[in-house]
Amino acid sequence: MKVLIVGSGGREHAIASSVAKSPRVDKIYCAPGNAGIGQMAECVPIGAMEFDKLTAFAREKQIDLTIVGMDDPLVGGLVDAMEAEGLRVFGPRKNAAILEGSKAFSKDLMKKYHIPTAAYENFDSAEEALQYLETAKFPIVLKADGLALGKGVLICNTLEEAREGVRSIMTDKKFGSAGNRMVVEEFLTGREVSVLSFVDGKTIRIMTSAQDHKRALDGDRGLNTGGMGTFSPSPFYTPEVDAFCRKYIYQPTVDAMASEGRPFKGVIFFGLMLTDEGPRVLEYNARFGDPEAQVVLPRMKNDIIDVCEACVDGTLDQIELEFEENAAVCVVLASKGYPVSYEKGFPIEGLERFDREEGYYCFHAGTKQTEKGIVTNGGRVLGVTAKGKTLKEARANAYEATQWVNFENKFMRHDIGKAIDEA
Ligand code: AMP
Ligand code: GLY
Repeated sequence: MKVLIVGSGGREHAIASSVAKSPRVDKIYCAPGNAGIGQMAECVPIGAMEFDKLTAFAREKQIDLTIVGMDDPLVGGLVDAMEAEGLRVFGPRKNAAILEGSKAFSKDLMKKYHIPTAAYENFDSAEEALQYLETAKFPIVLKADGLALGKGVLICNTLEEAREGVRSIMTDKKFGSAGNRMVVEEFLTGREVSVLSFVDGKTIRIMTSAQDHKRALDGDRGLNTGGMGTFSPSPFYTPEVDAFCRKYIYQPTVDAMASEGRPFKGVIFFGLMLTDEGPRVLEYNARFGDPEAQVVLPRMKNDIIDVCEACVDGTLDQIELEFEENAAVCVVLASKGYPVSYEKGFPIEGLERFDREEGYYCFHAGTKQTEKGIVTNGGRVLGVTAKGKTLKEARANAYEATQWVNFENKFMRHDIGKAIDEA
């Protein structure tokens, strides 16, 4: 069969690598893809938001299954557009992707269906939000309602910071129309865990857990980024935590969406905080995490095409997910200066070694194929991933492999997975 993947990051490279392992797949296309994806798929120069072009391409090439990796096209309705043309697509429709697309929607859903999350209020105007903050407890969390590249969340320690935050989100529209509404939320403390799942509208199957490192610098200092590294599984995600989440969070979320007339098909990513009072949902995403996919998918034993098709067909109850009894760590190699400003266009050396070593992966994010070879083309450049029997071994392997590749201004965190030493 022929598969089209929509997106261009490390997550889509990880998805493409899993798809390439399926004996059922003869040909993979990726729009727009990147240099690494280009080694296993034919990259086509169509942007993820060019719905008409994507649909026309999928029809012309008789694509059997399209997998949408990114949030923007999902929230914008790419799945609906393609389905309207009779195409098979893995991912939520627009009315279900709102689970990620509107934080106010997801908070109201959790409240209505008693799914544990931080206490909150939604606001449509800066005046009301400011008034509410006068009597609030600090620290407090402000969230722009819509998609903001993972940057629309502000943790404010004082009333003054919160006032400033409301101004930047709602008045100055720092995150554009994402800030037309805002959620003000209780500040939670604890360990963060990412849990990805496959959903077919009724049934949910949970993947192995992972943990991201969002800050740019060692010791969780510096600015928030798209993610500087991940490990899987999380030792903090115990069987007790899992049992609680299955009962009070996972299936209840799927049932709630179905009850609202918004059946969810695709991946739900649960961003959880393990608080002293138990697990709480910090956020939902309607897609695989990046760089969570880079440590979760290489450990999955199932044929990803079987699982995606079961989600589309509503037959996920007939599938059990299986994961290897090992661990994986992904260390992001970024360009110095990320996430603020950085240079691009430096040649990358040493990539070939990953083709020869079992259990090692170099997922491309911001890379580009040029006449000079593969060069850096973004803030996050590569996701170097390694497996190991234990998290410690996977971590040592991943850091060793970060030395195999080189480019000017290469920058990484040195403490990805360090938390496991405390587990
Ligand atoms: P989100 O995009 O909602 O996942 O938020 C981004 C990050 O902000 C999360 O990964 C947490 O580190 C932090 N965060 C979000 N909500 C809260 C909260 N209620 N309490 C503490 N930290 C939070
Ligand atoms: N790693 C966080 C995300 O994909 O949103």
